[in-house]
Amino acid sequence: MVTYRSPREWEIMREAGRVVAHALRAARDAAAPGVPARELDAAAARTIASMGAESNFLHYHPSWAPTPYPATACVSVNDVVVHGLPGDRPLREGDLVSVDCGAVLRGYHGDAAITFAVGEPSAADQRLMDVTERALERAIAQAVPGNRVGDIAHAVESTARAAGFGIVEGSGGHGIGTAMHEDPPVPNTGRPGRGLRLRPGLTIAIEPMVCAGAGGDGRTLADGWSVATADGSRAAHFEHSVAVTEDGPVVLTLP
Ligand code: MF3
Ligand code: CO
Repeated sequence: MVTYRSPREWEIMREAGRVVAHALRAARDAAAPGVPARELDAAAARTIASMGAESNFLHYHPSWAPTPYPATACVSVNDVVVHGLPGDRPLREGDLVSVDCGAVLRGYHGDAAITFAVGEPSAADQRLMDVTERALERAIAQAVPGNRVGDIAHAVESTARAAGFGIVEGSGGHGIGTAMHEDPPVPNTGRPGRGLRLRPGLTIAIEPMVCAGAGGDGRTLADGWSVATADGSRAAHFEHSVAVTEDGPVVLTLP
């Protein structure tokens, strides 16, 4: 069931989203060679708590997962695309790190992700990040009344493929509001003009996951959560929560 939300609700979601943006910034600022991913997670957790919100990832237990999620952020390094568990391995210069995190405030959810390199990115990693972020921007531009979910999906897919990159399928965006994951699914592949028609008040998370290789299905690692590329190629992930409004898309996860 798809829910449409009022401007009053967007405002609360914007507050939740602001917390998420600050938590991502704190995680990124904590990243350095020698620092374990666990410390990025801790920085995000401290920020969320200090801003009076709560983590919506911590203890989240979707039906497909073996265990409740044990952390505040997902930290996905190099060929890990999403849902990487923040662990004790020290980050290294040149690692490509995605941090995904969310917060709930006054009953409304925010969810966003960024990708960055530890130290100087290689030219190839920089291009992968740039293309993935551009895919997100182009997808957000499609989030206007009258368009369809397929227009968003197609914007992601065509941007990635035009650059020679692949899409990691099986994960994607989603409705967001009073739950982190709501209808509709917002896939990263699809055809323009297909799928649910977008109406004012729809609030969705758009999250391109793009990899340097051919893409396709991801590979779930032994921890039951982390999803890596099948071919070991590196991946980038950017995400914003967005409201569809009569005045155009409103990004809800900005600092
Ligand atoms: N942004 C991620 C997604 O939409 C949220 C993962 S929640 C987790 O898939 F807690 F399960 F990791
Ligand atoms: Co999401």
